[in-house]
Amino acid sequence: MTHASACGKIIMFGEHAVVYGRQAIAVPIPSYRTDVKIEDSEEFNLTSNRELSDKEKDRLTQMCSVLYARFKLVGNILLEINSDIPINTGMGSSAALSVATARAVSDHFKLGLGIEEINAAAFECEKIFHGTPSGIDNSVVCYEKPIYFMETPQAFDIKEKFTLVIANSGIRPSTKEVLAEIRFAYIKDTEKYSKLFDEIAAIVSQARKCMETGDIKSLGNLMTLNHDYLRMLGVSIPETDRIVNLALDAGALGAKVSGAGKGGNVIVLVTDKTKDKVLEALSSYKTIISEIR
Ligand code: PMV
Repeated sequence: MTHASACGKIIMFGEHAVVYGRQAIAVPIPSYRTDVKIEDSEEFNLTSNRELSDKEKDRLTQMCSVLYARFKLVGNILLEINSDIPINTGMGSSAALSVATARAVSDHFKLGLGIEEINAAAFECEKIFHGTPSGIDNSVVCYEKPIYFMETPQAFDIKEKFTLVIANSGIRPSTKEVLAEIRFAYIKDTEKYSKLFDEIAAIVSQARKCMETGDIKSLGNLMTLNHDYLRMLGVSIPETDRIVNLALDAGALGAKVSGAGKGGNVIVLVTDKTKDKVLEALSSYKTIISEIR
């Protein structure tokens, strides 16, 4: 039997624009993980600690088929999934599953894949879940480091750790559908969307500098600015705007939708002084606190 694990993640800046070649920043959330075990089996089988819909089972089977075809694998497996990463909220559940499965497959079939090959295989798997992903999700999960992504991943260091509250709006979008909607809007009005993506790209570059120099106050302002652009893209909904406003009113340094949007998570930058007030203001939502380093 082989066993592999992969972490959760959060996109801090640049979601959507990154699908169109602009830069984005994502950070790992190591305390939330997906574990995958693989053992030989008479026939292909899947088990999960979560109940799987037929659609999910179908996608997981497709994900395994992608890996079987890519590495010309022979023989059936039992794939056992254990995950505590919330699904469809922007915390990288599918990326973690793709990376953990690619790692477990590599060990089980003694492929000896390196990190780049695991990442490339996970990217192919991600396409099943997301349609046209940028590759940022599988990269941040695979490297488990802060990632600046512009068609390829670049790991970078954060000068000073900071704290994010991740608030779940309770509304579960499908990333694949949101991506398709944005693609449709982009094709209809390419000029408008390209301009918005360029503005977001400029925010991402500034945000990287703030993370590298420890300018947490400016980082917060940039998050809220990025959120304004996500609203213009149409991926924030009243519930996520409400969370952003509640958090800012409670003293947060910044707040924004994270990931595909139309629901999902809002990330909030807090300090030791503001954390409790923000958590109180968001007490009607499920929240996770994560230190980013
Ligand atoms: O919802 P998430 O966190 O899986 O993020 C999707 C991020 C997008 O930029 C919208 C898509 C992508 O593949 O980069």
